[in-house]
Amino acid sequence: MPLPTIEWDKGKVKMIDQTRLPDELVYIYCSEVKSVWEAIKNLRVRGAPALGIAAALGTVVGIQDSQAVDYDNFYKELEEVTGYLATARPTAVNLFWALDRMKAVAEANREQALSRIKELLLKEALNVIEENRKECRDIGRNGAELIKDGDTVLTHCNAGGLATADYGTALALIFTAQEEGKRIKVYADETRPLLQGARLTTWELLQAGIDTTLICDNMAAQVMKEGRVNMVLVGADRIAANGDTANKIGTYGLAVLAEAHNIPFYVAAPTSTFDLSLDNGSQIPIEEREAEEITCSFGKRIAPEGVKVYCPAFDVTPARLITAIVTEKGIARPPYGDSLKK
Ligand code: MRU
Repeated sequence: MPLPTIEWDKGKVKMIDQTRLPDELVYIYCSEVKSVWEAIKNLRVRGAPALGIAAALGTVVGIQDSQAVDYDNFYKELEEVTGYLATARPTAVNLFWALDRMKAVAEANREQALSRIKELLLKEALNVIEENRKECRDIGRNGAELIKDGDTVLTHCNAGGLATADYGTALALIFTAQEEGKRIKVYADETRPLLQGARLTTWELLQAGIDTTLICDNMAAQVMKEGRVNMVLVGADRIAANGDTANKIGTYGLAVLAEAHNIPFYVAAPTSTFDLSLDNGSQIPIEEREAEEITCSFGKRIAPEGVKVYCPAFDVTPARLITAIVTEKGIARPPYGDSLKK
């Protein structure tokens, strides 16, 4: 069992500060919605399912001290809290999905005492965690069949335990395959600019005793050409109805490379990452981040002052480049318009 990434702890949101890994394993405790927002914005907590959990627990923290005496005023405050959390990051749909779930609980229980609604909101946030725990296991079980004994997988960013309530989405397949006795090797992209692959994925894989090799993102083509990997396996932040998939910047490039080298490209994600209200990936909002994430590295400036910077945090891989999408309900294959609906 991986360490819990984010949990409820006596009226506070307790989370691993992922910006400090792998040097230090430090927990932070958020007792205000502002600090949960800051943690999401600055990637102390990150990864689509974990963002859903942060949004749900952040809502509880934000509303638990409400002094409202009637439902209408309580609901207004709830909308302020959820509206605020919704501004933290735009791409991972799990964040918005969880906020909608929290509001729906209040709406369905409007006749109850406000103290009871607060209890039900906490219960719902804990359900989001429990459900994700089970989803990770089911994703792992459903997808492990795609990995054969002796395979080598290329990963990007971090879609492991740190990004979820259990042992991940993409990494769940690897962990499950390993539990089934298969010998698996992994090449992990470092994932510029914030190095989730180098800092987080390799940390998780090494702890699980998996043979792990770190590469820079721009080495993937050469690694594929040399025949070192059999498949690419990534997570997702938002999947449109046609299967187009937003994930960490650089994922699209990997999918193009995988096609060029005739290597399967798999996505693993819970259905809470689907956004079937969007026909295709062009409608997915792509987060742009601060220039300093590229111009500075570990507190040191690495590019000249005054240079222009473009820093999208995600890209969209077209469905036609995706071999299959593994979910907790099974494996979806093209045409995704039909299989995802099912
Ligand atoms: O910016 P991040 O670190 O939140 O981006 C995370 C990713 O892109 C992950 O691959 C995705 O959220 C899936 S996590 C199971």
